[in-house]
Amino acid sequence: MKTRLCLLWASFLLGAPVNKQRHRVLLISFDGFRWDYDRDVDTPNLDKMAEDGVKALYVTPPYITITSPTHFTLLSGRYVENHGVIHNMWFNTTSLEKKSYYQSQFVNEWWDNGTLPIWITAQRQGLKTGSLHFPGTASSYQGETAMVREVEPALYNYKNELEWKNNTDKVMGWFRDQDLDFVSLYFGEPDGTGHRYGPDSPQRREMVKQVDRTVGYIRESAQRHGLDDSLNIIITADHGMTTVYRNGLVEEIILSKIPGFSFSDLSFHLVDFGPSGMLLPKPGKLEKVYNALKGSHPHLHVYKKEELPEHLHFSKNDRILPIILWADLGYVINGYFPVQFNKGEHGFDNQEMDMKPFFRAVGPAFHKNLEVGPFETVNIYPLMCHILGIQPEVNDGHLNATKHMLVTSSRAEGEFTSD
Ligand SMILES: *[C@@H]1O[C@H](CO)[C@@H](O)[C@H](O)[C@H]1NC(C)=O
Ligand SMILES: *[C@@H]1O[C@H](CO)[C@@H](O)[C@H](O)[C@H]1NC(C)=O
Ligand SMILES: *[C@@H]1O[C@H](CO)[C@@H](O)[C@H](O)[C@H]1NC(C)=O
Ligand SMILES: *[C@@H]1O[C@H](CO)[C@@H](O)[C@H](O)[C@H]1NC(C)=O
Ligand SMILES: [Zn+2]
Repeated sequence: MKTRLCLLWASFLLGAPVNKQRHRVLLISFDGFRWDYDRDVDTPNLDKMAEDGVKALYVTPPYITITSPTHFTLLSGRYVENHGVIHNMWFNTTSLEKKSYYQSQFVNEWWDNGTLPIWITAQRQGLKTGSLHFPGTASSYQGETAMVREVEPALYNYKNELEWKNNTDKVMGWFRDQDLDFVSLYFGEPDGTGHRYGPDSPQRREMVKQVDRTVGYIRESAQRHGLDDSLNIIITADHGMTTVYRNGLVEEIILSKIPGFSFSDLSFHLVDFGPSGMLLPKPGKLEKVYNALKGSHPHLHVYKKEELPEHLHFSKNDRILPIILWADLGYVINGYFPVQFNKGEHGFDNQEMDMKPFFRAVGPAFHKNLEVGPFETVNIYPLMCHILGIQPEVNDGHLNATKHMLVTSSRAEGEFTSD
């Protein structure tokens, strides 16, 4: 609150018009919604949203293109090596314990690693925030959480459209009745359907229709709750999806079959998790493991952590293991023998078009009927902070990547000088 008052006071002293318009933000993620999923399905509600607001051609997620790391980038504007949530799975390389995606949501030390999500920053500056099912919601950060929050139960059915409507109305009720400024809202589809049936399946197209109906419902619900004048809605995703080839169509990557490679040279490994893997060799075994794997399969990339291409921003963190593996589109990395049967996967290089999510925004802060070029998802955080009128934490994004989407009357240009 202090920052806001100072800024208002400053603009008063400078004689600038003080803009009293209330700006709230609803950040929505539809997990695994690839940038081009609206191209082979009728999406009247997404089309209407683009007409009424802004549509980006696509956005570029950070590497590693999996759910928890990329969502925490949306919430913080930091690359994965900087925020520390480097995997969906919490793990301990000494005890060899691993926790599933869902269990890892409750490991505070995993999420609270020096980077504050926008909920905490906004609340410290006098705003009120909420979160429903968004990855990272269950943890606390320096002892704080979003003021209103709901974490899904274990074994939650992420596909139920009626539940999606209920969750939408719940969040709109939070804005109206508890006067929240920011809410993050998560839907677990079309990721689940994309994994199970593949991104080119009729089942995926049906799920995109369900997402589209829900987008219509979200906008209708905002209106019904009297939020049209203040609410800015950003809809995006964490990563895309691509088809996996197997059953003799391709030569699969199976580490145990690679000559000279042995799991007995490792003290810990994280493989059988889509196209990415991380290895911790036993003392003195790094070169042996690296040399055995490097060049062993034409579609397997093998890197020592410190040699990883810069654009991935995935090396400068102690949690990242010394050897990093990833596969080309169409392949997954198997350990002892193939145990992965998904028809669709993500986790690949973030430069691959199939890994890019979609981006839409509508509301009083945004231009209407504007299509913009691609940008990295690290830039969504400074955009949201700007709309909310809060001072962002240190982050890897820039407002200049997204500010052309904003109508200048939203927050007076130059009101914030720290960007
Ligand atoms: C990892 O496991 C070891 C051995 O059980 C334990 O000493 C250490 O505290 C654990 N570290 C974390 C971060 O849980
Ligand atoms: C981040 O986590 C690592 C262990 O994974 C720990 O050594 C480090 O102190 C943590 N940093 C912060 C700021 O929490
Ligand atoms: C949705 O909310 C309605 C009304 O509160 C309730 O009757 C229904 O059981 C809920 N449905 C689901 C799937 O949560
Ligand atoms: C945005 O600002 C940064 C830092 O000042 C600069 O490096 C970058 O080129 C700018 N990007 C655009 C699109 O202007
Ligand atoms: Zn995901």
